[in-house]
This record gives sequence, structure tokens and C-alpha cells, in this order.
Amino acid sequence: MYAIEVEKLTFGYRRSPILEDINIKVREKEIVSIIGPNGSGKTTLLRCIAGILKPWRGRVKILGRDLESMSQRDLNRIVSYLPQETVPPPSLMTVYEYVLLGRLHYISGKLTVSNEDHKSVFEILKLLELDNYAKKCMHELSGGEKQLVYIAQALVRKPKVLLLDEPLNHLDIKNQFIVLKVLRELVKKLELTVVIVMHDINQAARYSDKIVLMSSGKIVAEGPPDEVIVPELLEKVYGIKFRLIYDHNVPQVIPKG
Ligand SMILES: Nc1ncnc2c1ncn2[C@@H]1O[C@H](COP(=O)(O)OP(=O)(O)O)[C@@H](O)[C@H]1O
Ligand SMILES: [Mg+2]
Repeated sequence: MYAIEVEKLTFGYRRSPILEDINIKVREKEIVSIIGPNGSGKTTLLRCIAGILKPWRGRVKILGRDLESMSQRDLNRIVSYLPQETVPPPSLMTVYEYVLLGRLHYISGKLTVSNEDHKSVFEILKLLELDNYAKKCMHELSGGEKQLVYIAQALVRKPKVLLLDEPLNHLDIKNQFIVLKVLRELVKKLELTVVIVMHDINQAARYSDKIVLMSSGKIVAEGPPDEVIVPELLEKVYGIKFRLIYDHNVPQVIPKG
């Protein structure tokens, strides 16, 4: 079964469409990267998949179910979306409390925290090697640590599909590596499917099963890294020249300007 199917999706904020006739299929337990220039519609597409924006035409299916037919509650159980811009958490909130907020959908109405909520928070913190941070306040964390905590909050509901919009921004190279490595492990451990918007073409090539290359609201190429990381395609989309090299069978590009 496919985790995500986007069929003939067209969407616009105003009169003219921003996304046109988008088709994507993502298998369960795949990591798929969406790359493309600023303004090409990556965030818009992710928000359509998350069920936040309603398509004008076409449809989105998650684990075989049409988003239209899913209740908000079911959607929240299955899909977790980490937006490009997160609202800064209250600085005195602890890591534990912040991650616990991700369980609110389960708490539903009651303001009590169940043992299961508590257990889930610690499980996720442990997986991300954040268990020693539980009592720390959010303002005591570095940018990279904070980003991992945001990811922990997105994961604490145990979603089947994780949608991440530029989660590596502001992270140093080591923390980028940690986040991507952790995601790889989580895909296996939690049977998770991940769609991740990122700018670094080489990281996308290294960590993804599949890459979707977007330009002006359309998909220019989609497939395994060596089918998409092709200088001619990238040059058409980004308007600069690239040189292609292979590092242990992974395609990598060097921009030549
Ligand atoms: N809320 C909005 N209202 C109107 N236009 C928007 C809105 N959000 C984005 N857009 C426009 O949609 C296009 C795609 O934006 P976006 O999906 O954010 O691109 P990306 O994430 O690839 O940078 C841009 O031209 C942008 O100006
Ligand atoms: Mg964006």
C-alpha cells in the first residue's frame, strides 16, 4: 500500500493556481525529499498533503484513505506536520512539557495526563537521545537541540506519516547530520514514512529513497536520487550550472554558477 498518493492535485490561494496537476506516490517507510527553488510550491504541497489546504481539484490519499473522508481526529493520529516556521515555545516550558503538548490530541478535553502520555513522551525523548534534557527549559537548548525537540513533539503521537518543512534550517552541519540519521532510524523503528522539504541537494541525494524536484508549481522530475540529480534537470530549474560527481554511488553536485 502507498502511504501517500497525490492525484491530479491543483491548488491556488487566489484565482490562479500555485500547484498544477501534481501526482506523487510515496511508499510506506520511504524517505522522500522535495527540493526546488524558493516559491516553487513546496510548502503549499506539504500543507495540501497535511490536509491544512483543500485542493481545488484532485485528491490526496493517506494509507489508502481519501483525506476528504477522514475526520480531523483520524488525520491527527496518522499525520504529523512540522511547519517551516514554528512558533517559539514559551522559554520557561520544559522539554518534557513541550513534547507532551504533542499528545493534546489524545488528551481531548480532559486536562489530565495519562500514564501512556507520560510513557510516550519518554519513549520518544529516549529515541532522540534527549532523555537527559527532559527537565531543561526550552531556552536552555541550542538551535539543533530545539529542532530535535520539535521533531520529538511531532513524533509523540506516533504518526504513520511525518511531514517536515525545512527542518534543517539554522542547524550546523553536525546537527543536520544527526537529524537525518535519526530520521533514517525512526523510519525503521516506528514504521514511519517521511516527506521532507530541504534545500541541500546533496543531502537530499544522500538520505532519500526518492526525490521530487519542483519548479513553478509543477513536478519537473521524481524518482531515485540518480534519476533526479542530473545537471541538465537542475540547471533548467535553478538557472545555474552544476558538475556531477559520484561519492560511493551517491550522486552529488557542485554548483559552478
Ligand atoms: N498564504 C498565501 N497566500 C497567497 N500566496 C501564497 C501564500 N503562501 C504562499 N503563496 C505563494 O505561493 C507560491 C508558492 O509558495 P510556497 O509553497 O511557500 O513555496 P516554497 O515553499 O517552495 O518556497 C509563492 O509564489 C508564494 O508567494
Ligand atoms: Mg517553503
